[in-house]
Amino acid sequence: MASNIGLSLSDTASETTATGPRSPSSTLYSSDDDAATVATPEVWNADEAVLVTGGAGFVGSHVAEHLLRRGEKVLVIDELNEYYDVSKKRANIQLLEQLGGRNFRFFKGDICDKAFLAEVEKSCKFPKRVIHLAARAGVRPSIDDPFVYVHSNVEGTTRLLELAGQAHGNDAKFVFASSSSVYGGSKKQLFSETDAVDAPVSPYAATKKACELLAYTYHHLYGMNVAGLRFFTVFGPRGRPDMAPLKFVDKVSKGLPIDRYGDGSSSRDYTYIDDIVDGVIRALDTPLGYQIYNLGNGRPTRLNDFIRLVEEHSGKQAIINVMPEQPGDVPRTCADISKARELLGYDPKTPFSEGIAKLVKWYNESRPSIELPEDGAQQVAVVTPERA
Ligand SMILES: NC(=O)c1ccc[n+]([C@@H]2O[C@H](COP(=O)([O-])OP(=O)(O)OC[C@H]3O[C@@H](n4cnc5c(N)ncnc54)[C@H](O)[C@@H]3O)[C@@H](O)[C@H]2O)c1
Repeated sequence: MASNIGLSLSDTASETTATGPRSPSSTLYSSDDDAATVATPEVWNADEAVLVTGGAGFVGSHVAEHLLRRGEKVLVIDELNEYYDVSKKRANIQLLEQLGGRNFRFFKGDICDKAFLAEVEKSCKFPKRVIHLAARAGVRPSIDDPFVYVHSNVEGTTRLLELAGQAHGNDAKFVFASSSSVYGGSKKQLFSETDAVDAPVSPYAATKKACELLAYTYHHLYGMNVAGLRFFTVFGPRGRPDMAPLKFVDKVSKGLPIDRYGDGSSSRDYTYIDDIVDGVIRALDTPLGYQIYNLGNGRPTRLNDFIRLVEEHSGKQAIINVMPEQPGDVPRTCADISKARELLGYDPKTPFSEGIAKLVKWYNESRPSIELPEDGAQQVAVVTPERA
């Protein structure tokens, strides 16, 4: 393994993390060395590193990987929660460790934990550039437990905005993930940033809208550069196992039935991970005061075409349970991406068919274990669809 510094500030001494021995204090350990060998921490200054929160997750690990490949120092904070199989998050951290070596540091902890963040700051000054992706994601689970969403999403985002504003004022560049779910049950054909989004229909969507509002407040108070990115259903390798693209590929590949709600004519805007990463990096590199951007593909895919593509690339015929339309199903979602095109030069390159081909290739090569919740696990067209 590449030489690396792993750190976990909130763990007990007896446990281990993907990055090496867990430390009960702010001592840094090199995962290359014997546990007894204490590495001398090099304190990173605020200019040279990028903080990626949620960097163990799907989008965050790809963003961190991209930054490391372009030679950046990357600091990841992630609590490695068990929303889905945590071994996938550990594997992502391990991959980043190997790629980044001494340019990569991982801190395991909760972004809401003030004491933990103060410890992090001792070895890495709070970076001027922040890509904040840590959040509780998923629409339906937020209805069951809204409080954990308010904690991670609203309190967590406020904590980071506060730190960035206090530390760097108008020098701060703060990019964060919002979601297309803020568009709620909009009947519009094309979702635009200028649409009113004051009727979120799930706690998750409401927390994302709240983050957008708080981000504006911090921009106003400190003059910080803030970009809120409304992602439209992201998919690709290392994808979230609770989301339709990976679930469909997994079920069809295993010859298991999938539920199709309605006649399959509904359509949705899916965005390939590489295009999302490109948009995130462009937003980071293009500070423009306070901005909200749609990051989607701009080309929706019909549900029946989605299923056909999965069949085609996996070489298996889908077994389809036809289910009645769900009340409130949105027939079509599509991002208007003209603002991101114009201001960021964002230009998604991966058609859905190519993205599915890449996803299936990755799935066949890595054979990820996918544990799915029983309830509604195979749904694609759902009430307030899985835009999380
Ligand atoms: N994937 C999508 O299609 C999609 C769509 C719209 C918006 N988003 C948003 O993009 C971001 C990334 O989503 P993802 O799909 O990679 O999800 P993910 O669940 O794979 O990653 C989120 C990461 O955040 C971490 N996290 C959560 N709460 C935390 C806390 N309090 N402290 C520290 N770490 C915490 C989790 O452990 C996880 O690793 C999220 O903000 C999500 O809401 C994603």
